[in-house]
This record gives sequence, structure tokens and C-alpha cells, in this order.
Amino acid sequence: MAEKPSIAIGQVMENRGVAPGHFLLTIRLPLSFATPIPGQFVMIRDPDRGEPLLPRPISVYGFQREKGHAILNLLCRIVGRGTSLFSRLNRGSTLTVLGPLGRGFTIDSDVRQLLLVAGGVGAAPLAFLLQEGSLLKPDSGKRQVTAYLGAGTAELLTGLNRFQDFCDLRTATDDGSCGYHGTVTEFLAVDLGEYDAKSTLILACGPGAMIRSLALLLRDTRIRCQVSLEERMACGVGACLGCAVAIKEGEGRTGYRRVCHDGPVFDIGEILWDPPV
Ligand SMILES: Cc1cc2nc3c(=O)[nH]c(=O)nc-3n(C[C@H](O)[C@H](O)[C@H](O)COP(=O)(O)OP(=O)(O)OC[C@H]3O[C@@H](n4cnc5c(N)ncnc54)[C@H](O)[C@@H]3O)c2cc1C
Ligand code: FES
Repeated sequence: MAEKPSIAIGQVMENRGVAPGHFLLTIRLPLSFATPIPGQFVMIRDPDRGEPLLPRPISVYGFQREKGHAILNLLCRIVGRGTSLFSRLNRGSTLTVLGPLGRGFTIDSDVRQLLLVAGGVGAAPLAFLLQEGSLLKPDSGKRQVTAYLGAGTAELLTGLNRFQDFCDLRTATDDGSCGYHGTVTEFLAVDLGEYDAKSTLILACGPGAMIRSLALLLRDTRIRCQVSLEERMACGVGACLGCAVAIKEGEGRTGYRRVCHDGPVFDIGEILWDPPV
């Protein structure tokens, strides 16, 4: 059960580059900050500069409690003004952190094979799932975990150490510099027949194009799949409708869901990729 979100002032303990255009933020938070569920995210903003004007959503990459405070890790890719600004924050800088927000991953007790599929920084919520661990332990028996991680090049495959210690790790790069030569969904397509549809669950996060090709790949299978969508957001708390996505409702009807409030995790089969205009 998700705990109630709160707003806190966090202090940057460390901010370091982990790959070209990628950085890892370690933020100290009050101990009272709610414990996130894997797949949940926070909205962050620099309160001193008042920038970016709107906070930015970032998935929880790591969270732990220590004596007297909590520590939050965020894995970020620089894409624009907000993330560029965050990448330059020094140790001791403050950040406003709202969260944890949204609906995280859920794993039914009959799942025996878990496939984690990520593109780029989409690896963040899945790495947190492995760190957190509770969803990996079924009531009885063993749950096998295999991760498929993809990126443009070998040096952009971030956080591999967070995966290789906990699961069978398979990598794909667009230029073939590490692992399978191609996209992560093309790699998964090669292996897909190995997995038993009834007992397998895919959890995925990555760019829109990756999620869309995953939906196509799974269209004619019965494999369950939950995806975390990285839609653009404004308020992050369900108030502005800026993050709405079209979903399939019964009898061919189209509905809309707010990614920040009803997601960011959805069953892939729910999403309507080409909604009527
Ligand atoms: C639930 C959720 C979790 C996320 N987790 C992470 C994470 O763990 N690490 C991480 O690096 N990023 C994550 N993102 C994406 C991140 O929020 C955006 O990259 C960020 O808000 C961009 O802000 P900016 O000011 O740097 O870019 P802007 O100046 O706002 O935009 C720069 C360019 O990037 C495009 N863009 C901005 N946001 C998105 C987006 N969400 N999807 C696609 N294109 C976008 C814009 O259209 C524009 O072309 C997540 C997004 C969501 C919704
Ligand atoms: S970002 Fe405002 S409703 Fe989702």
C-alpha cells in the first residue's frame, strides 16, 4: 500500500556524472519522507533559483533510511533546461522534493519468471525494484529474474552493477558495442519463445518508441506486461490533466487516464496508441 506523499526540502549529498549526459543525484531527506514503491516517482525543483518553473518528474532509483535521515537516489539524463540545471547542483544545494507519487509495479503471486526490460534511464525504477527486493519474493517457491537493458552505446548502459548482482543480465546496444546488436525489444523478440506465457510478467520502462514496439511485439501473446510511462508532466498530482493518455475501455470506447495519478505504471494492453481525434 502506497504511503501518503509529502513535500520536503532535500539536500544534495553527491552529484556525479555516470555516463555522457547522465548523472546520479544522492539527496538527503527528512526521515519522515514516505517510503516509495518501485515504479513511483518524485517531482523535483530547485527552490533557490525558482527553476525550472514547473517541477520535473524523476523515478526513484534508490531509497534507504539511515540514522536520522533518508537517502534518495535519482538517475537522470540531461534533455533540457531542468535536467541540465539539476546536473550542475553542488553538494549542499537544496531541492524541493514532492513524493513519492503515482502507482508503482504490482506482481501477482503466480508469477515465476520476471522480465525487466529497460531503455536508457528507464532502468532506474527497475533497479530500485531489485534493490527493494520485497516484490521479488513470492509467497512460496522461486522467482527467476532476467533483465534486458538497452542503450545507444556501451558507455550509456548505466547502473549495470545494480542488475548483475541480482539477476540474469542481458544487454543490447544500437551500435553493437556491448551485448546484442540492436534494440532491447529486438533482443527480447529473439528470446521471447523461451518464456512460458502463463507464469511470466514483463515490467518495462523506457522511451515512448521502445514501449510502443514492445506493445507490438506482445500483441499476439498472452504474456502479461506492465509499463511505466514517461509522459511530460506539469503538476504531477492529478490536477492539470497535462499528462493524460488514451486507454481502451470496454466496448471499443476510449477513456483517458492521468499518468501522474493513475500511473505511471499501466498494463500495456490498456494503452491506446492511436486514439481517435
Ligand atoms: C514518471 C516519470 C519518471 C521519469 N523518470 C526519469 C528518470 O528516472 N530519469 C530521467 O532522466 N528522466 C526521467 N523522466 C523524464 C524527465 O521527467 C524529463 O526528461 C524531464 O522532465 C525533462 O525536463 P527538462 O527541463 O530537462 O527538459 P525540457 O526543457 O522540459 O524538455 C527538453 C526536451 O525533452 C522533451 N521531453 C521533456 N520531457 C519529456 C518526457 N517525459 N518524455 C519525452 N520527452 C520529453 C521535450 O519535448 C523537449 O524536446 C521521467 C518522466 C516521468 C513522467
Ligand atoms: S501532470 Fe497534472 S494531471 Fe498529471
